[in-house]
Amino acid sequence: MTLMAMLGAVQLGAAAACVVVLIPVVMAGWHLSRNRMLLFSGILFITLAVCVHLTPCFPSVSDFVTSVSSVVVFDHRSSCINLVNDISWEVKPRPSVSLHRFNATRNVSLYDKRWDWSKSPKLNACDFQKLSKSDASELLNGSWVVVAGDSQARFFALSLLKLILGPQAQRMESVRSDLFKRHSDYSIFIDEIGLTLDFLWEPYVMNLTNSIMGFKAKRSYPDVMVMGAGLWHLLHLTNASDYDFVLRVLKSSVVSLLGANGPLPVKSPHLFWLGMPMLINGMLNTQEKREKMSDAMWHAYDRALGDTRLLRQTGGPLVLLDIQSLTWNCGPRCTSDGMHYDAVIYDAAVQIMLNALLVESHQSL
Ligand SMILES: *[C@@H]1O[C@H](CO)[C@@H](O)[C@H](O)[C@H]1NC(C)=O
Ligand SMILES: *[C@@H]1O[C@H](CO)[C@@H](O)[C@H](O)[C@H]1NC(C)=O
Ligand SMILES: *[C@@H]1O[C@H](CO)[C@@H](O)[C@H](O)[C@H]1NC(C)=O
Ligand SMILES: *[C@@H]1O[C@H](CO)[C@@H](O)[C@H](O)[C@H]1NC(C)=O
Ligand SMILES: *[C@@H]1O[C@H](CO)[C@@H](O)[C@H](O)[C@H]1NC(C)=O
Repeated sequence: MTLMAMLGAVQLGAAAACVVVLIPVVMAGWHLSRNRMLLFSGILFITLAVCVHLTPCFPSVSDFVTSVSSVVVFDHRSSCINLVNDISWEVKPRPSVSLHRFNATRNVSLYDKRWDWSKSPKLNACDFQKLSKSDASELLNGSWVVVAGDSQARFFALSLLKLILGPQAQRMESVRSDLFKRHSDYSIFIDEIGLTLDFLWEPYVMNLTNSIMGFKAKRSYPDVMVMGAGLWHLLHLTNASDYDFVLRVLKSSVVSLLGANGPLPVKSPHLFWLGMPMLINGMLNTQEKREKMSDAMWHAYDRALGDTRLLRQTGGPLVLLDIQSLTWNCGPRCTSDGMHYDAVIYDAAVQIMLNALLVESHQSL
């Protein structure tokens, strides 16, 4: 955008904001009833909404329309969804584990890792909370949840089951060993709350696309689907433009799945994208990984994800579970191989997903 166009857009934006703010005030001076005021604001909002939907055709004005409409209408849902990944960490040496007492055959972490949502007035207004076992059970009661992807997705599924079943449950031991059978799918039905959880081993984006098309063909969709893939492509194909391509194919299959529900979906699936972790190159455990999974290549993959606009924050269909920022902020003390992170990262990602589901379901009630 040229400078003149930018200035033009800013002026236009300011003018539109004035119209939207001032006209109802002036009309209030004409003793309009409160209801008519609301009606009028509603019409303005609809007008703006129409503008927002038309503006992709005129990209230079879309920025200002978005900013005006977000000033005018405090949209709890989209603003809280955008903040739900805003987590801060406190990673401190564990005072009770001194180095000489550390026993390598017993895995005791040397660090105490705590997390919470960051503190800010906006975040406080969203009222994010770590859900307990019973809260999570209530939220997911009777649902079908699919978690599909690579080993990150497997860790995510494990964290979710740990929350639902309780970390000490005897059943967790068998879950853990079955879930971690290499390169295989896993399915569990938790009859207490009628929850079905399927883990699908789908390390490539193409595999995810095939699943989405399968759901569409069978006209049977999970209530919640968490998907994410990238590391295998990065290691085995090492081609960011191909990653870009397969993400675009995935996006169009997701869009067509959502479209298949019709304009007023009875039950539209909640879809999440499990982001790629930060890779700590020096900690990767093979020479091949250190060469192919370079920082530059990682960033090219990350750019491809942004460019394809798959995520809600870029106007796409999937809500991000931001493993990148979780792993970046927790840091090297939270991983042993520079790629797979401690359970606490995936526990946090599960809580982010549950809170995002809460935000969305409040809205639709
Ligand atoms: C480490 O812990 C294991 C299990 O608690 C124990 O059997 C072993 O003797 C310990 N080793 C040392 C060197 O303390
Ligand atoms: C300790 O944890 C690391 C990573 O979490 C794992 O690779 C290693 O096998 C574990 N060691 C034992 C003895 O459990
Ligand atoms: C799950 O839903 C069923 C039927 O609606 C209800 O009877 C049960 O109490 C619920 N369980 C939990 C844990 O919310
Ligand atoms: C995933 O895709 C790859 C490459 O297209 C294919 O070789 C593999 O069989 C697929 N795996 C699954 C589980 O569909
Ligand atoms: C990368 O993928 C693109 C698209 O699939 C392909 O056209 C290109 O030849 C590939 N580049 C390399 C170096 O393999």
